[in-house]
Amino acid sequence: MTYTDKENKFKRYTVTTALPYANGPIHIGHMAGVYIPADIYCRYLRMMGENVLFIGGSDEHGVPVTIRAKKEGCTPQDVVDRYHSIIKKSFEDFGTSFDIYSRTTSATHQKTASDFFLKLYNDGKFIEQSSQQYYDEQEKTFLADRYITGTCPICGNERAYGDQCESCGSSLNATDLINPKSALSGNAPVLKETKHWFLPLNDYEDFLKQWILENHKEWKTNVYGQCKSWLDNGLQPRAVTRDLDWGIKVPLLGAEGKVLYVWFDAPIGYISNTIEHDKDSWEKWWKEKDTKLVHFIGKDNIVFHCIVFPSMLKAAGDYILPENVPANEFLNLEGDKISTSRNWAVWLNEYLKDFPNKQDVLKYVLCANAPETKDNDFTWKDFQTRNNSELVAILGNFINRTIVLTHKYFEGKVPEVNELNDLDKQTIEEIKLYPEKIGTLIETYKFRDALFELMNLARLGNKYLTENEPWKTIKTDKERTATVLNISLQICANLSVLMEPFIQFSAKKLQNMLNLNPLKWYESGNISILKAGHEIKPAELLFERIEDEQIQKQLDKLEASKKENALNNATVEPQKENISFDDFGKMDIRVGTILSAEKVAKTKKLLKLTIDTGIDKRTIVSGIAEYYNPEDIIGKQVSVLVNLAPKNLKGIESQGMILMAENPDGELAFVSPVKPIKNGGTIK
Ligand code: MF3
Ligand code: ZN
Repeated sequence: MTYTDKENKFKRYTVTTALPYANGPIHIGHMAGVYIPADIYCRYLRMMGENVLFIGGSDEHGVPVTIRAKKEGCTPQDVVDRYHSIIKKSFEDFGTSFDIYSRTTSATHQKTASDFFLKLYNDGKFIEQSSQQYYDEQEKTFLADRYITGTCPICGNERAYGDQCESCGSSLNATDLINPKSALSGNAPVLKETKHWFLPLNDYEDFLKQWILENHKEWKTNVYGQCKSWLDNGLQPRAVTRDLDWGIKVPLLGAEGKVLYVWFDAPIGYISNTIEHDKDSWEKWWKEKDTKLVHFIGKDNIVFHCIVFPSMLKAAGDYILPENVPANEFLNLEGDKISTSRNWAVWLNEYLKDFPNKQDVLKYVLCANAPETKDNDFTWKDFQTRNNSELVAILGNFINRTIVLTHKYFEGKVPEVNELNDLDKQTIEEIKLYPEKIGTLIETYKFRDALFELMNLARLGNKYLTENEPWKTIKTDKERTATVLNISLQICANLSVLMEPFIQFSAKKLQNMLNLNPLKWYESGNISILKAGHEIKPAELLFERIEDEQIQKQLDKLEASKKENALNNATVEPQKENISFDDFGKMDIRVGTILSAEKVAKTKKLLKLTIDTGIDKRTIVSGIAEYYNPEDIIGKQVSVLVNLAPKNLKGIESQGMILMAENPDGELAFVSPVKPIKNGGTIK
């Protein structure tokens, strides 16, 4: 029984998390939006003694996988094998407590999804429709929307995709594109007739309106609002098949070359994974009325989980529907949208290399700052501050002080409680409130607030210690000191229980220090967890400060990504007008060696160089100070335009010019011979 289900209506919980696409590793945005809240929810429910099935898995179909495979010259199966194991490993490393983490290329899923389609087909739930789709005649294949590029009819971007223009954000139909081109052959595609199966969502409109808009007014406003707008605009039939060769084959005669649409098969993955986990009694997790089904997703998945998948379940007949879909908004990184293709992300596998054993710090920060009601920003500075001034200074400090003092004054044994004063009584009353306060917030998907309350219990502990000053009373009143440390230790014990859903690695460590076995949630909220005389272990630091250098390293890494993106996106300067060979021959370019270099005073960019040109030794002023240190370039060979008319720069006569290669972002590099050349050697 939970705090919000006092009648015990639900006997078990089926909790699903959006299946991440296996075409890249996972990043902090995935964690903050979906997996951390879902994991907190499941860990908590288990501690409440509830029956929970926590489902995850990789989504391995879809066009992005085939595009990636093509780019890398391998098969789609190679791509998903690689990323499925990387993703699975990240979840294991972060201790995400899935009961099963499987994948949509599994045999079980192939069969389950195929059977699901057939059932709807046989029950006459689909409509068949032919339509004109783009076809690549050279490659003899229909083209998925992502495989067609062309000019956006709205903003004129020449690199828009058949489903979306990433420049203006409009969603498009492939046939809207001006000058469409196949990404496979580069040719203009032709329209060709093809047959597909559609789920007539319009038939489910009344049911959906009643079920969501009337019966689930309690859903988060972002979720409810998106559903309402879809329903107000009216639903249309949606194709559940595609002309592709990567996916689950449409199990019908005459459907060669067709597969299930990825958004049809992926949510069925939740069911397949349940079957894989619990073959004999899987149905109770999906068909019993006393099962509570909850989908954790990001906001881009709302329509599929609130409109499309429920319609599929309804069409299949005997399934339950989700009780809630607590979708989150997006997490940005240092002010920019997280992006796999732009490498603008904090990847979980990389984080753990840079911050070994600090899973809880990231989990804490991502939960404290989760994009629950609006998009939020992850910054490394905030990460550092939350670690140093919350985890270290509040939680860690309280626990450490309490345990150290217990060893110092009571040989590591929990002291007796003696007479209680008003402050003690008031503190005990407050402790009592926390399990229900935090639990109710978790049950209503307010994970940030729940975590804040957890920290308030640590704040209460700090305040209690500070006001009672056991380090002073020990000199005069050992009994009072005993009471204060007993109550402080009890707060630590309560924390070790209530921390578990959020930061389980630290909870475990704390339980070890307290020499305490894991407790149920409802066994906390009191001061009789630790018996007097119980022996505790020595203090260990739960959290440590994160220094500026570590943060700077992360910022540098992001800066490098930014630079690389700028370069990838930069366009090359167009070619200049033709010149004659004589025009070129007028330039006298020689190899020379830098003999000395110094900064030109009061300038940022200029270096004064002495160059041995083979002809003479001369002074040249060059605008390279932002890219080269004077002491690093002595002895380097460079290219020198020696017959450029001398010019006065900042009072120095510059006799020629050093040739530089320039990156589109302005970065400069010397143009040097690849093997040593005698000074004065010509360049032609
Ligand atoms: N792969 C999808 C995404 O990352 C989510 C699929 S959720 C499921 O957006 F329901 F289809 F499994
Ligand atoms: Zn556009």
